[in-house]
Amino acid sequence: MSKGVPARLTSEADVRNLASSALLKLFDSLYEGAVVVDRAGRITWINDKYKALIGWNGTESIEGRLVEEVIPNSRLRAVAESGQAEMLDIFTLGQRQVVVSRIPLHDDGGASIGALGIILYDRLQALRPIVSKFQQMQVDLASARRELTENRQAKYRFSQFVGVSRAAREIKEQARRAAERDMSVLLLGETGTGKELLAHAIHGASRRAEASLVRINAAAIPENLLEAERFGVEPGAYTGAGSKPRPGKFQLADGGTLFLDEVGDMPLALQAKLLRVLQEGEIEALGSNRVRTVDVRVIAATSRNLKAMVDAGEFRADLYYRLNVLPLRIPPLRERSDDLPILCETLLESIAERTGEVVRTVTPIGLERLAGYHWPGNVRELQNVLQQAIAASDERELGPMHFDMLPVAQVPIPERKLDESSAVVPARSLREAVAAAEHAEILKALAATAGVKLHAAKLLGISRAQLYEKLTAYGMLSVAPDSQDTD
Ligand SMILES: Nc1ncnc2c1ncn2[C@@H]1O[C@H](COP(=O)(O)OP(=O)(O)OP(=O)(O)O)[C@@H](O)[C@H]1O
Ligand SMILES: [Mg+2]
Repeated sequence: MSKGVPARLTSEADVRNLASSALLKLFDSLYEGAVVVDRAGRITWINDKYKALIGWNGTESIEGRLVEEVIPNSRLRAVAESGQAEMLDIFTLGQRQVVVSRIPLHDDGGASIGALGIILYDRLQALRPIVSKFQQMQVDLASARRELTENRQAKYRFSQFVGVSRAAREIKEQARRAAERDMSVLLLGETGTGKELLAHAIHGASRRAEASLVRINAAAIPENLLEAERFGVEPGAYTGAGSKPRPGKFQLADGGTLFLDEVGDMPLALQAKLLRVLQEGEIEALGSNRVRTVDVRVIAATSRNLKAMVDAGEFRADLYYRLNVLPLRIPPLRERSDDLPILCETLLESIAERTGEVVRTVTPIGLERLAGYHWPGNVRELQNVLQQAIAASDERELGPMHFDMLPVAQVPIPERKLDESSAVVPARSLREAVAAAEHAEILKALAATAGVKLHAAKLLGISRAQLYEKLTAYGMLSVAPDSQDTD
């Protein structure tokens, strides 16, 4: 035994004990907190700083308790069991994030006997940037999660489906009734008629409103991924599938609504699988043979003529009949021109809201001009046309001249009710009244001269060039075809 070592230290065990208590003292002074657990995860030692951090002011002893009881979500027991150290982890302790290390303790034979946990926070100034980055990431994650949930809620309500025409009121009423029934709905309508809008409104008014509305666009997803989107992916099912199971959209929609958009564009091969899901509510993740049951309500939509596709063998008849439980046909805009004034008003208001600019209006003659167009892109196209008109002009009122981007009126004279009583819709300004009167007079002159513009111009006391200008402005060129013009 060498000099300098106290005589009472006779055994190796004593030396070890002294060393460990010296180490514990060192941990105590070095770190913000230190705790030791045994193999079973029971606290055998904890320093006062740690107790203060977790707000332990009880008189009862902390030693002997399971670590998770005292430090919720502690991983020390796992480290004691695995014998694997975890250096520099960020751990949430109450309201704060701390940087911790977890070090397994081994006996002489290398067996794990417990673990030491230390809190480094505040001591290592250099770790602060990591902690603040982590905190920022958590904030971002929380907002991304919130957004994801919001994205799965209904974005539109029935009140947003604007329309006063009989056709619009009828379809809205049918859709409201559909919302109350938990049946498959098939939304049929040309592009831009509001199928997506109604799908959201139906989900939002249904008993599934609190659960997710999950949209699958059958047209936009590559064929091989479409299956994954719908049915989920098992680890390793295909290259890049990752190691964690990814839920398919069908699973995400469990309890809610699955919006199968552009269903007419779904590959035939998938149609059979979809049919099975609809019939049995069973899904199978890609790459697995486990089958799960899901509860979804399907709202399908297409602008294609599904029935014709069935007849042509492009769409499975059995799937068609399964989807076509409650068909809702949304009429095209051209069949409900009564809706134009209110649609323009609403759309212009929402454009103004977005841009922060003054709300524009469409003059009665402007509306007539719009009514003469056949709107293949329906309400979406109307939105675009209004936007273009606004961009091209600063005027607050949009008249026919602002809709030059549309082909000239296609409605022939006899169909336009332009006698005094209906042509001159109550004007809101002198300019408007003059325009309305001009419009009516020009039509009368053209009718009286069988469409010969030179004669009509004479009758009106203006030059032929001036007449042309007005015909162009009012979108009336087609009502007086050039072929009849003998001059
Ligand atoms: N009746 C309506 N009232 C107000 N806005 C409408 C109406 N119908 C459609 N819209 C608007 O027109 C745009 C197109 O509607 P939506 O996307 O629902 O059409 P869609 O039928 O799904 O078209 P597509 O077949 O091209 O996907 C949206 O901005 C929508 O809000
Ligand atoms: Mg759509």
